[in-house]
Amino acid sequence: MTSPQNSSASSRFPKGRRAFPHRDLIGISSLERHEILFLLAEAERYVGFNRQAAKRSDELAGLTIINAFFENSTRTLLSFEIAGKRLGADVVNMYAAQSSVKKGETLIDTAVTLNAMKADAIVIRHGSSGAVGLIASKVDCPVLNAGDGQHEHPTQALLDALALRHKLRERGSDTEDFTGLTVTICGDILHSRVARSNILSLQALGASVRLCAPPALMPAGIERMGAETFHDFDTALQGADVVMMLRLQNERMDGQYIPSPREYRHLYGLTPERLALAKPDAIVMHPGPMNRGVEIESAVVDMDDRAIITSQVEMGVAIRMACLDVLTRRSRGVPGWSDGEWV
Ligand code: CP
Repeated sequence: MTSPQNSSASSRFPKGRRAFPHRDLIGISSLERHEILFLLAEAERYVGFNRQAAKRSDELAGLTIINAFFENSTRTLLSFEIAGKRLGADVVNMYAAQSSVKKGETLIDTAVTLNAMKADAIVIRHGSSGAVGLIASKVDCPVLNAGDGQHEHPTQALLDALALRHKLRERGSDTEDFTGLTVTICGDILHSRVARSNILSLQALGASVRLCAPPALMPAGIERMGAETFHDFDTALQGADVVMMLRLQNERMDGQYIPSPREYRHLYGLTPERLALAKPDAIVMHPGPMNRGVEIESAVVDMDDRAIITSQVEMGVAIRMACLDVLTRRSRGVPGWSDGEWV
């Protein structure tokens, strides 16, 4: 079995600049462009590793990672669990629905409890924006945000960037970033932490971002993040290089935001005919879970040369391995760290 190769990514950092100074990964908003590129480069090591039949290393042997999920998840929870196990860590999952949260325990008391168990990293998904940052302030180990309310989902944006870059390279590009690309993100922008993290990440990597949603699902003032906003999907698609579709987050809606699913599909559903308005080879992305026949048609999902939705899932494991590795290096005393400097 081949081990993940040693990274040369540290050479990407300008001399004397701090390599990865963050203890936690709460949001893309706290990352600089070179730090995003660093995490992508680290994740590249694991892509080939994960494609081997035997894929187990001992990089995190002896470490305990707790995945504390206060909201449902398939992709994020399983990929963090797989990532930790492939790196040799002991991984424990806490599902809030089966925990003492149901008996009235507060978020802070839960955080203090997890901390007392001496976890080496805690991965948290929570329904409230800011909850993960709050927990990070109460514990001693690295905290990774697996999605908090409508705030951020940083590892999703990182895996999206990795999957997109892989597709571009498969097509012959040697690009490191997304300079010159136009990415249209369409769907329930109002409730989407994926949209927020992607706006920040894609722009940091040079892309222009267009947002498209019905008026009720477009957050007021979102243009201040530097994205162009549209309500007409056909216009937002014109000449786009990448189309990222988002589902309607009905679980976060307390009223009627759209006239009907049927009308939403008519106005905002991605069909092959509508995709033809984008660039001829435009790439289609979706973070999942998908609602086929609502925001995206199966005929689009099944376009193997265009849709990279399965690749996004694959890259999620590599990104989460990289994030767990990088954030635990300090506690593992990995050579290369010295007072937060890469030497
Ligand atoms: N994209 C994403 O976060 O999916 P899950 O909710 O299944 O984790």
